Amino acid sequence: MKALILVGGFGTRLRPLTLSVPKPLVDFANKPMILHQIEALKAVGVTEVILAINYQPGLMLSFLKEFEQKLEIKITCSQETEPLGTAGPLALARDKLIDGSGEPFFVLNSDVISEYPLREMIEFHKSHGGEASIMVTKVDEPSKYGVVIMEETTGKVEKFVEKPQIFVGNKINAGIYLLNPSVLDRIELRPTSIEKEVFPKVAADQKLYAMLLPGFWMDIGQPKDYITGLRLYLDSLRKKSSAKLATGSQMMGNVIVDDTAVIGDGCLIGPDVAIGPGCVIESGVRLSRCTVMRGVRVKKHACISNSIIGWHSTVGRWARVENMTILGEDVHLADEIYSNGGVVLPHKEIKSSILKPEIVM
Ligand code: GDD
Ligand code: MG
Repeated sequence: MKALILVGGFGTRLRPLTLSVPKPLVDFANKPMILHQIEALKAVGVTEVILAINYQPGLMLSFLKEFEQKLEIKITCSQETEPLGTAGPLALARDKLIDGSGEPFFVLNSDVISEYPLREMIEFHKSHGGEASIMVTKVDEPSKYGVVIMEETTGKVEKFVEKPQIFVGNKINAGIYLLNPSVLDRIELRPTSIEKEVFPKVAADQKLYAMLLPGFWMDIGQPKDYITGLRLYLDSLRKKSSAKLATGSQMMGNVIVDDTAVIGDGCLIGPDVAIGPGCVIESGVRLSRCTVMRGVRVKKHACISNSIIGWHSTVGRWARVENMTILGEDVHLADEIYSNGGVVLPHKEIKSSILKPEIVM
């Protein structure tokens, strides 16, 4: 089986992290976002993943080469010369997606994190005999998503409305599709939207089916949602494979710590924390609801909450970092600094406190 991941966009809302790497390579729960998806695809027998990409393909591919070998999966690129939207890239990759087997293929948005019940999805797809299956999830604020109106019992989609202005329902497109090759006959090679131009027509032909995603789902393209997403992810890890969570008297709630990270005495860590490879957390540090990426040093008695600390940064002694502070790669906060929602661009030294949420260039 094959899969295509839509990797467009510049990830501006996750700056400054996306100033260092493309959004799909930003770490989430100690590994690049896109690896969560590739691993889930591999687990259901996908043998080739095509990245539909419109910028920096070299960076992505050289990075993923390592995982191609580790995961034993082929990763290729289909590069656009102009952004082709969410459907055009499928037309562009047509020859790669069709292998003569007639098998359906997966298509994934790259900016969401969720449970990936792909095996159930394959079963569902086989059972209904339509052309396309999409996964849906319930949200409180559906207007920024694609809303799906479906028959409860069969899952047949009656209507697909992208970003509705008025309330039509609360089940939304989760950005996980399983499509028959025949869907490609509906897509022209031009900038075009699968949500606006393809799904509404497949639905009108009564060939589009939706399955309710069991478990959590989150679009993690914004810092606030990234932090919420980590909580949901760790909750689910607790239920599925709790052995991956850190244990010990210094840990509180759900925490993951890379094996190569070092944690000093008298720390209190958690809930909802991810500590990446090579990090050094000195003694007496307090961490909650935060991500500390590869190579970070947090010095004695610093306190970090609701924040993301980018790769190879340092947080000084007695510093207090909170309220959606995001430090880009290689940022250094001096001792005793307070950051209240500071968004700090890569390679900066911060010597005075950031008293209110602002971007520090
Ligand atoms: N290759 C390529 N080229 N990929 C693209 C392009 C493009 O021109 N434009 C967007 N993408 C990718 C994005 O990187 C993302 O992975 C996916 O296509 C969806 O685009 P977004 O820009 O993130 O759309 P959205 O978040 O507003 O809405 C989409 O996702 C929602 C779920 O998060 C839609 O699919 C909605 O229906 C859905 O509910
Ligand atoms: Mg999105």
